[in-house]
Amino acid sequence: MKPLSSKKIQHFPDWESQPINGETFAPFGPAVYIGKMHDEFVDELNTHITNLNQSGDAKDVKGQLAGRVEKQLFLQDLISDNLERHIRQHIVNFTTQQNMGMEEQHIVSDGVWCNCASARDFNPRHQHTGDFSYVIYTKNTVDPTEVVNNPYDNSHEAQPSIAGNIELHYGEAMFMNQSRFMHVPVEGDIIVFPAWLQHSVYPFYCDGERWSVAGNYRFATYEELNPPQETE
Ligand SMILES: [Fe+2]
Repeated sequence: MKPLSSKKIQHFPDWESQPINGETFAPFGPAVYIGKMHDEFVDELNTHITNLNQSGDAKDVKGQLAGRVEKQLFLQDLISDNLERHIRQHIVNFTTQQNMGMEEQHIVSDGVWCNCASARDFNPRHQHTGDFSYVIYTKNTVDPTEVVNNPYDNSHEAQPSIAGNIELHYGEAMFMNQSRFMHVPVEGDIIVFPAWLQHSVYPFYCDGERWSVAGNYRFATYEELNPPQETE
């Protein structure tokens, strides 16, 4: 198992003593995958979102989603086959790393939408439907220094900045137990996690926009994997 920390093992300044050996592991709880989308697919998603924003006939799915975000648009029908396959390959990569024998055809896309977040938009703690969920960051024009230097989110020594970050939640906040995982959104990132895993997104309070595309995959049904054979 891969250690959580790559920090060097501490050697106490007593040259006579044996070195202290040990590694930190996280053997419990859900696994999370972080990958990088190919640039062409990030460009494709941004083109779809830009066109939707300009056309005015976008399907607003704000009412169906958890986010308190001004603009949430349905993208499912616009995604190219190559892009859909690329996302699916990231999910297969994730399950392969978990030694789970899953192949591309075993999962089906089940909803894709985008969140065009600007100042004060946020996503309260929620979970998705389906089996796997993902978030892709396609655009982030929020200045990371402005995120911190405002009256609402001053970072303290022990408390790093949270504005604009996604946080995954699991388990109880207890001694020697990690119950939160925070990720700073970077353009091109794809995060994949089990759909039941609760997560939230913190607001930011400055200029700029952060676009993310989220969606779910579910396992294919028996009928989908075994379509009826055509007979004459
Ligand atoms: Fe979500």
